[in-house]
Amino acid sequence: MTEPLVLGIETSCDETGVGIVRGSTLLANEIASSVDLHARFGGVVPEVASRAHLEALVPTLHRALEKAEVKLADLDAIAVTAGPGLAGTLLVGVAAAKSYALALGKPLYGVNHMAAHAAVDILEHGPLPQPCMALLVSGGHSSLLLVEDVTSEVRSLGSTVDDAAGEAFDKVARVLGLPFPGGPHIDRAAKDGDPNFVPFPRGKADDGTFDFSFAGLKTAVARWVEARERAGEPVPVADVAAAFQEAVADVLTKKAVAACKAHGVDDLLIGGGVAANSRLRALAAERCEAEGIRLRVPRPGLCTDNGAMVAALGACLVEAGRTPSEPEFPADSSLPITEVLV
Ligand code: KG4
Ligand code: ZN
Repeated sequence: MTEPLVLGIETSCDETGVGIVRGSTLLANEIASSVDLHARFGGVVPEVASRAHLEALVPTLHRALEKAEVKLADLDAIAVTAGPGLAGTLLVGVAAAKSYALALGKPLYGVNHMAAHAAVDILEHGPLPQPCMALLVSGGHSSLLLVEDVTSEVRSLGSTVDDAAGEAFDKVARVLGLPFPGGPHIDRAAKDGDPNFVPFPRGKADDGTFDFSFAGLKTAVARWVEARERAGEPVPVADVAAAFQEAVADVLTKKAVAACKAHGVDDLLIGGGVAANSRLRALAAERCEAEGIRLRVPRPGLCTDNGAMVAALGACLVEAGRTPSEPEFPADSSLPITEVLV
């Protein structure tokens, strides 16, 4: 069989993503984001996001087809994020994907968003090593996954017990008066700051688990900034951003490397929006090299939510000969990571 032509639809949060791949070759990755509509609320408003997906989905899909220079009839399969994510936004993508699949008579794969964040790397660095360790960090999740085979066997080793890493970036940015979403702004501000300015707490860093905690760190930063403001002193935004970012990157990379060593895994993959962070990427590269671990991080545009990642996982599933989802499969906002395909 020639490599499958797969359309992927992603609507789990505020990005309407439509991607088209042929096997591990990326043909199109079109995105319409509703992030500007949420900015003044300091976080994603689910109902607003759902409405935006409804309006953006069909035009985004048409743009993707044009970009890839293919027709709907040419597709071998359709894949869609079935969960986890926001219940209402997932529903828009799942309903659209079912409609297209039914009308076109194409097989449909309802897939796990987290597994798709790992699978996307095939588009940049080729087939995933088996096994590989995946550190997935975004606004909604922070997880360490042992990926034996991205089409069937994904095990959760740990996840955040409170805030996701990206959520901490967004909340700390707010405290520092930086716009939403805060990650990229903190990343930029930190370039002129001192990472050792304040030794902010590294939650759960040495507790021997593969879980994370960022709520204490976020609160410590807020308290520090408040105290400074109360004293009538200026807040050194660049230094606080750098010291906060250092604490996050330190814990994430330390646990990821420890997980690789504990499970005898030689390949670490980092994905999700926070994987776009320059300090996380640099520190991960440094620590992996010191431990003889190969590091794979997709380019930032493939790390944040997009349709290509869903198409990539769809292509892996088609190539592995997996049975498509039943037509009545549900959108599941709390889909467990062990369920790669519903
Ligand atoms: O994967 P993603 O696009 O959506 C979710 O599934 O949540 O991740 C979005 C998150 C936001 O919290 C954003 O602040 C964070 O990723 N982010 C970053 C950077 N770029 C995006 N965090 C740190 N540094 C960045 N450069
Ligand atoms: Zn995501």
